[in-house]
Amino acid sequence: MSYGLQIRKQVGLKDLNTMAIAVNAKQFATIESADQLVQALEIAADQKLETLVLGGGSNLVFAGDVEGLVLHIALRGRRWEKVDGDTAVLALAAGENWHDAVLYAARSGYRGIENLALIPGTAGAAPVQNIGAYGVELCDTLASVTALDCESRQVVTLSPEDCQFAYRDSFFKRNPGRYVILEIRLRLSRSAPLKLGYRDLQDYLSDVDGAKLSPLEVAEAVMAVRRRKLPDPDTLPNAGSFFKNPVVDQGQFEGLQQRFPDVVHYPLTDGVKLAAAWLIDQAGWKGFRNARVGIHNRQALVLINHSKGTGEDVLALAEDVRQSVREKFGVELEVEPGIVGAR
Ligand code: EPU
Repeated sequence: MSYGLQIRKQVGLKDLNTMAIAVNAKQFATIESADQLVQALEIAADQKLETLVLGGGSNLVFAGDVEGLVLHIALRGRRWEKVDGDTAVLALAAGENWHDAVLYAARSGYRGIENLALIPGTAGAAPVQNIGAYGVELCDTLASVTALDCESRQVVTLSPEDCQFAYRDSFFKRNPGRYVILEIRLRLSRSAPLKLGYRDLQDYLSDVDGAKLSPLEVAEAVMAVRRRKLPDPDTLPNAGSFFKNPVVDQGQFEGLQQRFPDVVHYPLTDGVKLAAAWLIDQAGWKGFRNARVGIHNRQALVLINHSKGTGEDVLALAEDVRQSVREKFGVELEVEPGIVGAR
């Protein structure tokens, strides 16, 4: 069976990554079904080609051309399952646009993912980095993930525990190549409390009665708050937060707070989380730019590709930022997007 799979050669990826880095894939396939995926994996194994799974391309940096086979996930479809009283499960095929799914759920009156409005990318990529914003993470509502196990070539269902979610992290992120996500299922509710406590959102909604808000109104508020600070990848190519917020131990934090009384921090049960954006901002990087790449002037955590920047340009800037934060604060920043392609 051919399942309609087509493999193209030397395909440009500039329009398929939100940093707009112009690289080529040696081979490229658009995947519209699980059968096509299995077939593509077989071809890759026969030809000893590495594979790279590409969703919305919003959380990766191409360091260079992709020497192997890019699998562009275009599985579509969404459906409600198990509607039971106030709760329902929304199943989303991996290639569905995440933001459209948020609006669809919110318009249907279901709550749980409205704070994750306007996050670029696909539903299938959402569990990989456990997307999170405004006090909500994907793992708060995720019921299960259906994936192709690339070792056994079987379709498997993974529970939230199997996914090993943590802040911006999951089993999928730590073990790239093991699974290709086909579908995610979210448990949503008509009556769950809205989460309006994140500072920027609270400020935006300060003169509104939170109890009267619909999930769609919350999604709209989140969109307005995001648009104030975060650049639109269509006009200023970027991959969202370029670094994770670092966690330091209590001793290191106290030393830092003595030197920098205003250090933005969030106490955790085990250590203290710092705001990477604040560290980068204080190190003087906000609004910096060279001929090709720079740091956003309203959110220091975002690197921008201003004009024909290469992966090398982006990674060199990221390294300069890491070094200056290390020198000023003694804190290590970890890059959040995946770095892919030949270096
Ligand atoms: N801040 C600065 N300078 C800046 C930006 C922020 O000092 O240029 C300070 C702010 O004043 C605030 C603190 O840093 O006190 C945190 O800023 P913000 O609330 O904007 O959140 P963040 O920690 O920088 C995280 C996520 C974002 C998400 C927001 C809102 C990470 C790595 N990033 O950013 O995620 O939208 O919270 O929940 O956790 C993304 O992943 O692409 C992304 C945008």
